[in-house]
Amino acid sequence: MKIISNPFELKEYLHANKSIGFQENQSIGFVPTMGALHEGHISLIKKAKEQNELVVVSIFLNPTQFLKGEDLDKYPKKEVADTKLCQLSGVDVLFFPNVNDIYTQDEVSVLAPKVRGFVLEGESRPGHFNGVLTVVMKLLNIVNPTRAYFGKKDAQQLNLISLMVKQFFMSVEIVAVDTVREKDGLALSSRNAFLTKEEREEALKIATSLRNATAMVMRGVLDSKEITSNMREILAPLHIFYVEILNRNFNQLSHVEIGNTIILVEVRVGTTRLLDNIWL
Ligand code: PAJ
Repeated sequence: MKIISNPFELKEYLHANKSIGFQENQSIGFVPTMGALHEGHISLIKKAKEQNELVVVSIFLNPTQFLKGEDLDKYPKKEVADTKLCQLSGVDVLFFPNVNDIYTQDEVSVLAPKVRGFVLEGESRPGHFNGVLTVVMKLLNIVNPTRAYFGKKDAQQLNLISLMVKQFFMSVEIVAVDTVREKDGLALSSRNAFLTKEEREEALKIATSLRNATAMVMRGVLDSKEITSNMREILAPLHIFYVEILNRNFNQLSHVEIGNTIILVEVRVGTTRLLDNIWL
């Protein structure tokens, strides 16, 4: 596995690879991450390996998507373990830039759409998605992949990145990957490391509420209000940022439409913000 930190070197390496080992029409799969890798990230890498000749993973703790007072400094850093995991997962190139490789002063940036970028997670973290879209634009331009892989767990992020790619006429294919969970249902997240034993128990209410919502839909209950109020009861002791039933374009649904629905939850457990969702 080749490890590169300089964007220009990476561009050159990928270009050279195309002209030596790899042919021009061979595909590149790209998995952007912020590190502290877990099975969720690995499933994105596996999917990328299945679908492409060459797999590039980036690890970059992007400062611009953290608001003032958020957990940037606390965010888990596991360089050695991450590098090993990438190697074991068959990653071809690990892109590990420093902040100065990606950002300078007085920068051009991408702005998230005024409505869809400032609801849900964007409402409690205003400006977060500007940072996400800007860094993803930069990373996609550096790697120039055939396909880029994102988790359905961060459904709003996935939706906004898909919008950006479409609206900026970019030619990368965005691939959505299912959420990986612990056996007891808790969605894997780098932030789970912050939870105490008691908080982890509390966090299971998120998966329980989503399972319950699914069971209601299976019983034929499709009314969004009925489903969300049941979910809120289950989540009650936690601080709830939102519980929403939306279609795949992120518009409100008064009734669940099977095949076109996402039920999204974001809560705070202790001081840790956790989000999850289910696609029905
Ligand atoms: P990060 O939180 O490291 O996540 C990297 C990718 O892994 C994202 O696409 C995320 O949706 C996916 N992922 C996280 N947990 C998952 C799980 N349990 N199952 C499946 N996929 C999961 O998301 C980011 O980084 C950043 O915002 C980034 C896109 C890299 C831009 O900085």
